[in-house]
Amino acid sequence: MERILVVDDEKNYLVVLDALLSEAGYDVLTAAGGTRALAVLEEEEPDLLITDMRMPRLSGLELMAQVKQMHPDLPVIVMTAFGTVENAVEAMKLGAVDYIMKPFENQELLLTVEKALKLRRLVAQNRLLREDASRGRGFGSIVGDSRPMRQIFELVEKVAATKATVLITGESGTGKELIARAIHQRSPRAEEPFVPVNCMALSETLLESELFGHEKGAFTGAVGRRKGRFELADKGTLFLDEVGEIAPSLQVKLLRVLQERTFERVGGNQPLSVDVRIVAATNRDLAQAVAAGQFREDLFYRLNVVRLELPPLRERKEDLPALVAHFVRRYAAEVGRNPPGVSPEAMQLIYDYAWPGNVRELENALERAVIMSGAEIRPQDLPLEVRPAAAEVGAPGLPQDMTINEAVEDLERRMILRALEQAGGVAAHAAEALGLTKSNLAYKMKKYGLS
Ligand SMILES: Nc1ncnc2c1ncn2[C@@H]1O[C@H](COP(=O)(O)OP(=O)(O)OP(=O)(O)O)[C@@H](O)[C@H]1O
Ligand SMILES: [Mg+2]
Repeated sequence: MERILVVDDEKNYLVVLDALLSEAGYDVLTAAGGTRALAVLEEEEPDLLITDMRMPRLSGLELMAQVKQMHPDLPVIVMTAFGTVENAVEAMKLGAVDYIMKPFENQELLLTVEKALKLRRLVAQNRLLREDASRGRGFGSIVGDSRPMRQIFELVEKVAATKATVLITGESGTGKELIARAIHQRSPRAEEPFVPVNCMALSETLLESELFGHEKGAFTGAVGRRKGRFELADKGTLFLDEVGEIAPSLQVKLLRVLQERTFERVGGNQPLSVDVRIVAATNRDLAQAVAAGQFREDLFYRLNVVRLELPPLRERKEDLPALVAHFVRRYAAEVGRNPPGVSPEAMQLIYDYAWPGNVRELENALERAVIMSGAEIRPQDLPLEVRPAAAEVGAPGLPQDMTINEAVEDLERRMILRALEQAGGVAAHAAEALGLTKSNLAYKMKKYGLS
């Protein structure tokens, strides 16, 4: 039953409206003034608010303004006395869905109410649809709807509009490059080049000439003059990937460009200046590298103006279903077949695994699984290390970052859970399946908090 809150300082109107609307099948709440109405709204969630305009203390408009803050989706109908239509128009501008002129015909009032409630239902449905459509889609082609990822997307949106230097950190495979590209694409520089440089892939001298370019004959092999990435990225974005790997001597040179925005080509002495937005990424803990004397502190601060920290996949497992669906669809399309389903057992394994290689590892596993699978991806289509039963055979699946005791306890806990599940919660059966005495199982269940 839909609930309507009626607000009027005139008792008579409250009584009449209460009777009329109740008769028509609505659940009616009444309040003899704006302040009373606000008190009611603290406790109740009506579907519609009908309020008089002229009331002592809190007027209809003032009430509406406050209601819009607390309950932005609550539709409001205002009632105005004959001859004060201007008030009603103002109320509509402030977001009232309709108005009723006093005195009113019963039929007319009921029609207006029904129309407002119908609109509200449509709005609510529409929002659900929109939420459904965006779920799993995340941010452009970047999948993720978990709270940490949504925070990242918000930050990306904000920082993209600025020219601030951004440092993206996160374990390998968490999507740092994807985010760097998203920042560029959403920035005013989107039409200008995005120029990536992998600071790890090249030797120190090669990286220097890669970044800054070189003049003819600057070093053996420098047969012609060549523009560096800084020049190529002019007006655009330079993406310094793996920036934590830059050799100390180059760190000095990089610092200078970041401070002065000018540099010289290798072997040249003419200062060049560029307008470049810097986005850097690293999977190293740079603060720790600074403490260890491997990374210049001043460069760190230059880069670390805005920090985006991508959480490892194991800390946002809510994103797994959408990511799995995304990659299954993509790789099925690549081989021109319908996307296979994912069996519950396979999905469970995907959930249980820690994904040390993060999204990249998940992506590779699913690419392979799509090729291996029939109509459905099953446990045997997943890589060995994702399947704990197979883990004892090959080293890749051995637990990492755990002491032997922790690993054994982890295994024990999971085996007990599974046995209990398979035994439908009957401890005696689970104990038998596990080769434990009942009291021994009871002890272990207590130890792991499984009772
Ligand atoms: N949220 C995501 N949605 C969709 N694909 C993703 C997402 N995160 C990562 N990927 C994919 O995972 C792979 C790894 O991402 P990316 O190269 O951006 O990681 P990275 O953090 O730069 O890794 P590394 O530190 O190893 O360079 C890419 O193929 C990328 O498209
Ligand atoms: Mg990368």
